Amino acid sequence: MGKVDIKWSELGFSYIKTDYRYLSYWKDGKWDDGELTKDNQVHISEGSTALHYGQTAFEGLKAYRCKDGSINLFRPDENAKRLQNSCRRLLMPEIPTDVFIQACLDVVKANEHFIPPYGTGATLYIRPYIVGVGDNIGVNPAPEYLFSVFCMPVGNYFKGGLAPTNFIVSEYDRAAGNGTGAAKVGGNYAASLLPGEEAHQRKFSDCIYLDPQTHTKIEEVGAANFFGITKDNQFVTPLSPSILPSITKYSLLYLAEHRLGLKAVEGDVAINKLGEFVEAGACGTAAVISPIAGIQYKDDFHVFYSETEVGPVTRRLYDELCGIQFGDVEAPEGWIIKI
Ligand code: PLP
Ligand code: COI
Repeated sequence: MGKVDIKWSELGFSYIKTDYRYLSYWKDGKWDDGELTKDNQVHISEGSTALHYGQTAFEGLKAYRCKDGSINLFRPDENAKRLQNSCRRLLMPEIPTDVFIQACLDVVKANEHFIPPYGTGATLYIRPYIVGVGDNIGVNPAPEYLFSVFCMPVGNYFKGGLAPTNFIVSEYDRAAGNGTGAAKVGGNYAASLLPGEEAHQRKFSDCIYLDPQTHTKIEEVGAANFFGITKDNQFVTPLSPSILPSITKYSLLYLAEHRLGLKAVEGDVAINKLGEFVEAGACGTAAVISPIAGIQYKDDFHVFYSETEVGPVTRRLYDELCGIQFGDVEAPEGWIIKI
């Protein structure tokens, strides 16, 4: 296996072509055996529902290189389950959990030389996706499907990494109240491109979405979930049917309570009560834990802990989560699959 010339600690979150990806097709009611391929181009019908009607869903998870050279996958069974939910929402055939996890393992092993070394902070991001393909023109579920898993080494998603950055509340909604917000489907991300671009133009890391019904409660932080730490040591994160159920968020709720002794709460986060939080952050697979320095909401700019320094609780959560992911801290039962 060849060596690759990558400056691991300078990686951002950009596409890098790795050697192998997994591809499997669904036709006549069943998935084929699937295989690894070197071709990173996908050839599909011009009538594919993925191209016209957004019949697409994806996942994001990571492989971590540990100090002893072994490789960890973090909770891939949860990604498999969430993809199954997304498939049910868009009338796509589900991928069984064992097939999903095996495809991820095969892709990681085949691209092992792209896994960033321990200590660089970088990881191998794994992107499974399923799309409707085949000849079609009406607004119908596709006659055929393609499931693929590819991967690439990545560094920070938000530029600051553990340095706090600023966010702005958007006037747009990313998903409707009873829409597809809780599924990881392409349309939600297409809807977020313009609000995200407007936030970037104003030099914010990304935008914050409020609940679509009342525009009074925080829902998401771009492609990540929100959390806040109150003065009386509560870890609070929004609960809503239109946000993505983040695997990182549920992991942090558990760690906050069982490892840090905080009270873990899923509930409403009112945009006009940000003063209740002494620290705030965005969490997700790509975002890991990204501290939020301040939030611009209309004409107010609210600063949480500091504009330059990460708060102590956010730092402890980060150390606990990353410690588990990189194999330095004991993981709760079933969270790590070792390669
Ligand atoms: N919210 C959105 C909209 C996302 O795209 C993501 C990324 O997956 C998350 C939250 C975080 O979810 P997870 O922690 O499962 O990666
Ligand atoms: C992830 O964290 O895996 C995400 O899906 C974010 C992504 C849209 C870049």
